[in-house]
Amino acid sequence: MIRITEVGPRDGLQTEKTLIPTDIKVAFVDALSAAGFEEIEVSSFVSPKWIPQLADAGEVFARIQRRPGVRYLALVPNQAGLERAREAQVDKIAVFTAASETFTRRNINATIAESLERLRPVVATAGVPVRGYVSTAFHCPYEGPIDPAAVVRVCDDVMALGCDELSIGDTIGKATPDEVSTLLDRLIPRFGADRLVMHFHDTFGRAVANARRSADLGVTRFDASAGGIGGCPYAPGATGNVATQALVDLFGTATGIDRAQLDRASGLIAPYLRPAPPAG
Ligand code: HMG
Ligand code: MG
Repeated sequence: MIRITEVGPRDGLQTEKTLIPTDIKVAFVDALSAAGFEEIEVSSFVSPKWIPQLADAGEVFARIQRRPGVRYLALVPNQAGLERAREAQVDKIAVFTAASETFTRRNINATIAESLERLRPVVATAGVPVRGYVSTAFHCPYEGPIDPAAVVRVCDDVMALGCDELSIGDTIGKATPDEVSTLLDRLIPRFGADRLVMHFHDTFGRAVANARRSADLGVTRFDASAGGIGGCPYAPGATGNVATQALVDLFGTATGIDRAQLDRASGLIAPYLRPAPPAG
């Protein structure tokens, strides 16, 4: 069984400059709920000054139709975010830091150490399962290649906070399958494959190869966004996550995803996204 967390409504939409109507976000999540995901990342309770597109996170949570058996999660950067997430009755929260100091500063205005201290009380009092994201686990847009030993250290620190799982982010989509093997050879014995989720972006077209390599090594959990939408506003040039459709094509019925329903969800959001930049 391959388990895909659909992150399109959060990672997919957070970079969009034109505000997408809340109604459309709700319809997108509802369509995804019918596609067979166990988990959908709906939005972020981050500062609306930093991510204006997701300022309506509370309203989206209030209006989606929750399907039994689906966990609806959201990003939480600090205590204020946790309060908002609680009010929205999220099923699970995702806290986030990174293996690169520069990216961490640009993304959350903190050092890695400060980010961990900020997250400590959030994880301790969450009261729901907690995912810990470690971004720039292979390459950083500002610092270049990241030493796997540094990634392992941050993963240790994030798990020591009390997180239930790690999502390992190839934030700018630059990892190669061999780099994935090198890191997973360290992470799998340490944390167990079942607590690892691979979060590949597809900037250089290697996300599917990276997912295949991860699965060969025993990983069964992946993040993906319907239609491959998205990126990170604080990672210049990064494009979207691996398309959920690409992982469904790769792993087939093992994903439990209804491809037609997934495509329906993608079709619903597509008209509201800015056109892709010209190739070249
Ligand atoms: P800051 O400016 O250092 O902190 O931001 P602050 O406490 O001074 O907050 C600034 C303002 O935001 C204040 O308002 C706060 O009240 C408010 P003001 O006093 O100026 O009116 N504020 C909040 N409002 C609502 N909810 C909150 C909240 N927190 C503060 N939770 C902070 C620090 C962490 C808040 C900010 O940097 C932030 O929100 N960053 C989020 C950036 C982000 O969401 N990035 C994308 C997600 S990460 C990603 O995409 C990678 C991933 O996909 C994996 C991968 O691909 O690698 C996960
Ligand atoms: Mg991402």
